[in-house]
Amino acid sequence: MIKKGKKLYEGKAKIIYATSDKNLVIQYFKDDATAFNNQKKSTIEGKGVLNNRISEHILSNLSQIGIKNHLVKRLNMREQIIKLVEIIPIEFIVRNVASGSITKRLGIEDGTVLKEPLLEYCLKDDALGDPLIAEEHIYAFDWANKKEIEKVKKMILRINDFMIGMFRGIGIKLIDFKLEFGRIKINGKTEVILADEISPDTCRLWDSITDKKLDKDRFRKDLGDLIPAYTEVAKRLGILHEQSNVTAVNVTKLSSVKKKNK
Ligand code: TMP
Repeated sequence: MIKKGKKLYEGKAKIIYATSDKNLVIQYFKDDATAFNNQKKSTIEGKGVLNNRISEHILSNLSQIGIKNHLVKRLNMREQIIKLVEIIPIEFIVRNVASGSITKRLGIEDGTVLKEPLLEYCLKDDALGDPLIAEEHIYAFDWANKKEIEKVKKMILRINDFMIGMFRGIGIKLIDFKLEFGRIKINGKTEVILADEISPDTCRLWDSITDKKLDKDRFRKDLGDLIPAYTEVAKRLGILHEQSNVTAVNVTKLSSVKKKNK
C-alpha cells in the first residue's frame, strides 16, 4: 500500500503530495479556478472531481496508443497516483481553431479554422505571466534540448490527432489545448513523457453543432454553468452515466458537509 506523505507543491488547480515510494507522487485536483494568470479566482465545487475523471480517461486512452505519460492510476474522487517527473518549464499550446489569446494578439477572428495545427511555446513562469517564446529561446536558455523538443513535437501531433477524433466522435470540436511534459529515468535512460492534466480546464471544447463552450471559458468569460458543461463532457466521454453524473458533484458536497460537521 502506498502511503500519502507531505505536500510537495501547490499549484493553482492541483496539489502534489509525496508518497512512501520515492518515484511516485499523488496529484490532488482542487476546486479552485483561476484565469488570466491568477487575476480572476474562484472555487467551483465539484470541478476537481470532474477533471480528475476526465484527465484519467484521456491519459489512459493516450497510453493505449503508445503515448507514455505520468498516470499510474486514479485513487479516488480527487486523487491519482502519478510518476514523479522533472517538469520541462514550457507550456505547449496546440491550436486547431483560433480562440483566446491568439485572437487578441494577432487580430484573428474567433473561430477561424487554422490551415494546420499551430504549436506555441510559453515559458511556465507565473510571475512573468507565462510569456510566449520562440522555440529558439528553449535552446538558448537550455530549458530543453533539441532531441527532447523533436520527441515532444512528434507526441503532440499524435495527441492532437487522437484527441480531435475522440472529441469529434462525441460531437465536440477540439479548439485548442495546453500540454506539459516531464523528464523521467526509465532503465537508467532519461525519457520525456506527457505530464500534468488534460481536462476542460486545459482545453477549449465547443459543441460541434451549437459551438456552445464546454470548457473553462465559461469561467473566464462569466458564462456560468461550468459544472453542467464539464459534466456534459464527462457524460459524452462515457465516464459518467445518466444517474451518476450528479453523483460526482453530490459526493463532493456530501464530503464537504461531513468535513464541516467534524
Ligand atoms: P490561451 O488562448 O489563453 O493562450 O489558451 C490556449 C489554451 O491553453 C486554452 O485551451 C487554455 C489553455 N491554457 C492552460 O491550460 N493554461 C494556461 O496557463 C494558459 C495560458 C492556457
